[in-house]
Amino acid sequence: MADEGSAGTGTAVSTTGHSAEGAHPGSAIVRSDRVENPGFEPEHLRVADVDPAREKQQERRVAAWFVLAIVTAVLAVASYVAFPLGTTDPSVNRWITFLFGFFIAVSLLATGFGAVHWSKSLMAGHDMIEMRHGTRGSEETRAKAAEVFKLGDEESGFSRRKLIRNSLIGALVAFPLPGIVIFRGLAPKEDPNDVLRHTMWKQGMRLTRDPSGTPIKASEVTLGSAFHVIPEGLNDAEDRLEEKAKAAVLLMRLKPEDLHVSPDRADWNYDGIVAYSKICTHVGCPVALYEQQTHHLLCPCHQSQFDITREAEVIFGPAKRPLPQLPITIDSEGYLVARSDFHEPVGPSFWEREHS
Ligand code: FES
Repeated sequence: MADEGSAGTGTAVSTTGHSAEGAHPGSAIVRSDRVENPGFEPEHLRVADVDPAREKQQERRVAAWFVLAIVTAVLAVASYVAFPLGTTDPSVNRWITFLFGFFIAVSLLATGFGAVHWSKSLMAGHDMIEMRHGTRGSEETRAKAAEVFKLGDEESGFSRRKLIRNSLIGALVAFPLPGIVIFRGLAPKEDPNDVLRHTMWKQGMRLTRDPSGTPIKASEVTLGSAFHVIPEGLNDAEDRLEEKAKAAVLLMRLKPEDLHVSPDRADWNYDGIVAYSKICTHVGCPVALYEQQTHHLLCPCHQSQFDITREAEVIFGPAKRPLPQLPITIDSEGYLVARSDFHEPVGPSFWEREHS
C-alpha cells in the first residue's frame, strides 16, 4: 500500500481523512484507520518493471502463446476433416479422437498461458483496494469508472500493443471453431426432416428375416406366426443400424376375415399377411410381443397395446397413434415384397404435433 502523495495511477491511497485530494482518478481511497495489511507479501515487481528493455521480449512471448492457440485450433479442425470418424477399427477411432482432443486442449491451454503471461509480465502489478458502494454510482463515479477503463487500457497496452491484441483476437476467434465442427458433425448430413420421414423400404423390395436377411415366401408365414423383418440389403447398407432403427417391421398372418381394413388400404395386406412398423409410436421402443389369440401387439416399455385387426390402432397405453403399416404384396417367385415405403413417418408421435 502506498503512502499519500507518492502513489501513482491506479494505486491504493492511504488517507486519514474522508477525502483524498491529489489522488489520481481511478485510485481507490483507503482510510488508514480502516484497513490493516493482514500480512500480504510486499509487491513483486514485473520483469518489465525491473528491466524495461525486456518488454518487447515479453510481448513476443505472449503473442507466441496466442499464435500457438490459433495454430492448434486450426490443426484440430484439419485433423477432424482429414481423418473422419466412422472407421470400424476402434483403435483408429481412439487415436483420431485423441489427436482432436489433444489439439483442442493445447489451444485452450495456450490461450490461458498467454493471458496469464501477459498479466504477469506486462500489466501493472500494483495492489488495489476498492471500497463497497451502491449499485449505481454517481455521475462523478461513473466518469471515474470510465477513466479506470482507459487507465486499464493504457496500462495493459491493449490498444497500444497491436501484436498482442490482434493475436489474442485471433485466438478467441479460432477457439470456437473445433466446437462448431464437432456439433456440425453430430447433425445428419441431409435434411433431418427427410431423413426421419423416409425409410429404406421401396416398391419391390423383399421382406427378409432379421438378422439373417433371407427372403420370406408368403407360404412360409403360417396363421398365428410372427416374423421380425428387415428390408432386403439392409445388412450391406452403410448406415445399417440407423436404417434398421427406422425400417424394422413385424409380419403376421391373420385370417383375412379377421381384418377390418379401410378401403384405401384394401390391397396393403396379402391374403391376411400384414406388416407393421416395429417402432413404438410412444417413444420408439421395439414393439416385439405378439399375442396371437387376441392379435394384439404389446410394447414392453410402457405397455402400449395395438390391435392389428384394426390397422394397429392403440387400445391401451401412452402411445397416441397407430403403428404405421407397410403395404405388401408378393413378387413373381412368391416372395413377400413392399408395395412402397410407409405412407407416414415411423416412430414417436412427434409427427402428430403439427396437426394438434
Ligand atoms: Fe412403447 Fe412407451 S415406447 S409404450
